[in-house]
Amino acid sequence: MNEDALQSALSNPQNLGEMPDADAVGTVGSPDCGDMVRMWLKYKEKDGKKVIDKASFQSFGCQTAIAVASLATELIRGKTKEEALQMSAAELSAPLGALPPMKIHCGQMVEGALKAALEAESAVATTPAAATAPTGPTLMDSLADAGKTAGKIKIVLQPS
Ligand code: FES
Repeated sequence: MNEDALQSALSNPQNLGEMPDADAVGTVGSPDCGDMVRMWLKYKEKDGKKVIDKASFQSFGCQTAIAVASLATELIRGKTKEEALQMSAAELSAPLGALPPMKIHCGQMVEGALKAALEAESAVATTPAAATAPTGPTLMDSLADAGKTAGKIKIVLQPS
């Protein structure tokens, strides 16, 4: 492990903190040590592709997780979602050198938070109808009404 790279990432962590206008957020906790990393992503259009404009993180955890998260938020800028999804914990922590066995889960936690944020964004993107529903009754309202009607009919019909 490269201690200089670790110290420099820790002394000046990049993109630390909540991102209020983020498109997606992902959180992962480690059952091993109880630490946690949360990552926010913001996308933009570039050359007809949707790429990561910026990322930020919060880490309630060890120094290695903070350093890897800081590096990861820099490494994924400009990447598409597919490209970012393919980045392993080892790639995200590459500037630190190989992590010692006790610290491998720290990098994996950052990878997990990144993947959770990437997947969270796609979940939002595949259900735009709910978010942009017109002011009329939604499908859920219609189903609820149908349920009420069915319930009334059932109550009326059963005694006969
Ligand atoms: Fe658990 Fe680093 S994240 S010790």
